[in-house]
Amino acid sequence: MTMTRRTKQNLDTAMQSEAFTHALYLRFAARARMHKNWKLAQVFQTIADTERTKHFAEGANLAGLVSNDAENLRYALNEKRAQAAMCGRFAIQARADGDVTAAACFEKLRTDENTQADTLEAAFRVESAQCPACLVEA
Ligand SMILES: [Fe+2]
Repeated sequence: MTMTRRTKQNLDTAMQSEAFTHALYLRFAARARMHKNWKLAQVFQTIADTERTKHFAEGANLAGLVSNDAENLRYALNEKRAQAAMCGRFAIQARADGDVTAAACFEKLRTDENTQADTLEAAFRVESAQCPACLVEA
């Protein structure tokens, strides 16, 4: 059965929520560890791990997001460049709003996203040179 547009949007929203929760709970766990609250840290860590390894993974499989290495590299590269562009727009808007702290944060994120995109491009070149067939194996 083909997935409806609404279900695809709902799946995207659910996966974004799972990914956000995973990342945020890792920060919560780190904060608890800094204060030597080991049991609470383990609670956050366990839930964060489940969000990534189970909930997000199940959504990604259902959405068919993981493909061969070549497609995964293309997807990641496009995503990184889009994130960099978004952060650049957000930096401009924050600056226009007079929020120099947020503008600097978005500008740093833009730079980091572009650096990651450069890393992905380099990886694609290396992989293509070493084993082009490996990149497109399912
Ligand atoms: Fe979850």
